[in-house]
Amino acid sequence: MAQTYLLPEFETEQREKPVNVASVPQRSPFRYPGGKTWLVPLFRRWMMSLPNQPAILVEPFAGGGIISLTAAFEQLADHIVMVELDGQISSVWKTILGGDADWLAKRILSFELTPESAKEEFAKEVRSQRELAFQTILKNRTAHGGILAEGAGVLKRGENGRGILSRWYPQTIAKRITNIKFVSRRIEFIQGDAFEQLKRFGKDRNAVFFIDPPYTAGGKSAGSRLYTHCEVDHERLFSICEELRGDLLMTYDNADEVRALAARHGFETKAVAMKNTHHAEMNELLIGRDLSWTEAGGVFREHRSPYRVSESKQTKKQRKR
Ligand SMILES: C[S@@+](CC[C@H](N)C(=O)[O-])C[C@H]1O[C@@H](n2cnc3c(N)ncnc32)[C@H](O)[C@@H]1O
Repeated sequence: MAQTYLLPEFETEQREKPVNVASVPQRSPFRYPGGKTWLVPLFRRWMMSLPNQPAILVEPFAGGGIISLTAAFEQLADHIVMVELDGQISSVWKTILGGDADWLAKRILSFELTPESAKEEFAKEVRSQRELAFQTILKNRTAHGGILAEGAGVLKRGENGRGILSRWYPQTIAKRITNIKFVSRRIEFIQGDAFEQLKRFGKDRNAVFFIDPPYTAGGKSAGSRLYTHCEVDHERLFSICEELRGDLLMTYDNADEVRALAARHGFETKAVAMKNTHHAEMNELLIGRDLSWTEAGGVFREHRSPYRVSESKQTKKQRKR
């Protein structure tokens, strides 16, 4: 039996409201570049710091959607609006939230993945949204870094030499998809432009916004390799955010240019150093009007728990994204 550590959210929690500790549940079927699973504990804290539970949470750059899913499962907002421009990613959300979750789950479970079957599948002309959704999940789970943008190669060696199979966990992915079905009535998905939707909900005092755009500000090019849609007018985005009536939380690269941009628009910034479960050091920036809620616990690094739990090899494998 392999042993592993449970990762608690923060070492010190001085909250008035109860917080759901322990490791962050992986709820997204995607393995998403720039995914915000590591931010979930902070996101929860932000939501709980608001005077009332928001009627609407808008996530205008939804991608793999872990923040929206967390809000839906943990009932942190009454209604969730996910917005994404990318057609491939949108097909997955539309399929899952639009009544075809079971079809997609079954399709994943019945697919025999080999390098040849994947190649055959990618060469197929898709005729429906749900077929595109399946192709997208397959691509996301077999491409280097989960990258769906043009030019990403297929995993050859992968984890432990498992090659193309190293991120293909059909049972786990199918389960996540069917689970989402149960919270789908809380979630509205819009394939569209983040800017338009920010304006649409901007005057609503009961709407709050989690904003995680592609990182191409400050001359950074990472975002342009990861996403098909990576051109964002960051100055304009900040101007729109200034006008939002409801509260907001943004995440960006911790770059000088971004901090200057935030300061110009009257926002506070806070750098977050976070070790994720794969021990990669994240260095990102939280941006908001008032980030004093981040001080409540004070520690922004996941620490190992003083206790350990046993975990079977199978569970351990499945837990990996
Ligand atoms: C940093 S990723 C979001 C990652 C997400 N927070 C997660 O945890 O998976 C940014 C996303 O914004 C999308 N995007 C880029 N421009 C957009 C636009 N104008 N409107 C809506 N979505 C856009 C990209 O396709 C990409 O999926």
